[in-house]
Amino acid sequence: MLFGRSVLLIVGGGVAAYKSIELVRLIGKAGGRVTPVLTRAGAEFVTPLSLAAIAGAKAYRELFDLTDEAEMGHIQLSRAADLVVVAPATADLMAKVANGHADDLASTLLLATDKRVLLAPAMNVRMWLHPAVTRNVATLAADGALFVGPGEGEMACGEFGPGRMAEPAQILAAIEAALGAAPAVAGGGPLAGRHVLVTSGPTHEPIDPVRYIANRSSGRQGAAIAEALARRGARVSFVTGPAEAPRPAGCEVHEVETAVEMLAAAEAALPADAAVFAAAVADWRVVSASGSKMKKDGSGAPPRLELVENPDILKAIARRNEGRPRLVVGFAAETDDVLANAAAKRLRKGCDWLVANDVSPATGIMGGTENAAILITEAGAEAWPRLSKVETAERLADRIAQALA
Ligand code: C5P
Repeated sequence: MLFGRSVLLIVGGGVAAYKSIELVRLIGKAGGRVTPVLTRAGAEFVTPLSLAAIAGAKAYRELFDLTDEAEMGHIQLSRAADLVVVAPATADLMAKVANGHADDLASTLLLATDKRVLLAPAMNVRMWLHPAVTRNVATLAADGALFVGPGEGEMACGEFGPGRMAEPAQILAAIEAALGAAPAVAGGGPLAGRHVLVTSGPTHEPIDPVRYIANRSSGRQGAAIAEALARRGARVSFVTGPAEAPRPAGCEVHEVETAVEMLAAAEAALPADAAVFAAAVADWRVVSASGSKMKKDGSGAPPRLELVENPDILKAIARRNEGRPRLVVGFAAETDDVLANAAAKRLRKGCDWLVANDVSPATGIMGGTENAAILITEAGAEAWPRLSKVETAERLADRIAQALA
């Protein structure tokens, strides 16, 4: 939720600009305010009047519009909002900002702002894949800009591939994450005053500077659980590996890469009332990752990677004598004999609850948006229907709230 938060929304010139209307509506529904700004090209795709009407605020366009400057100077305009969002962010607008140009209102605001900038790129697939755009995106990211999308799909130009602007709901989630938006139940909720640790996403275990061992975890289930807990009033420490899912709103986000880093971040977050281990942690890491890129030596013989077991984060925390969270919840991704394996795992790991799911490829669960979970507690097993990961998270958060009540 975005109660009391304000967004400066810069609409660039691309076909996806029509989605900005829906985005303004969603931000409003979430309780936020929008000040719209259009580039000259943006105003060719969506009219300032419709944006202003939905936003309930003036839509700004020109840098040298004296009325605008008299009402609010561009420096002030660039800083009055809590976050600057560019949707669609065109190749041209990103190139300007990456290189410090300020020749119109939008680029000047982006240069003058002291707030974070969230970009939702949208362009033709060839443009998105062009090295110049890749370079500019890397520069902007290094300068601290945040990105949401682009996604893959059919584009207005008829081509297919990455470059499609993220959907408005996804951009809203990224806005909430960027603002660490306050939970919906302001100051209240069944988990008010509770602290919950959530691990999420895959881990990356380096082989050399450019290669790593990873898995297909998207981080969606963990992010949804963290957000559902935050919405119930909990303070949530969210420890995530490099996951594609947007970061959850209203949580303290700790980004890590490896299992060893994840364990350290999880332990540093304690004490907690409950801990949910939704991360798909790599079981093994390379004993000593090469400091330089490994090369073929011409002999045809592949290199041998020596692996060592990673720490088991769930087990380490569930079996702590001191500072063990009151409720420890593990996950079990199984491909066969799900129930028996998961029930044994609950005991082996020392956790209170285990959420088991069948991740055999036919289910499409790993990396997908749905889950079919079995909750295993001391009292037995409970099979949940196939639900979206968000609904699964809502159920689990309700159960956690009951258990901590
Ligand atoms: O043993 P397995 O990987 O199937 O156990 C799954 C559960 O254990 C998940 O909750 C996962 O987050 C957690 N886990 C962990 N650290 C590991 C391996 C698994 O926290 N190294």
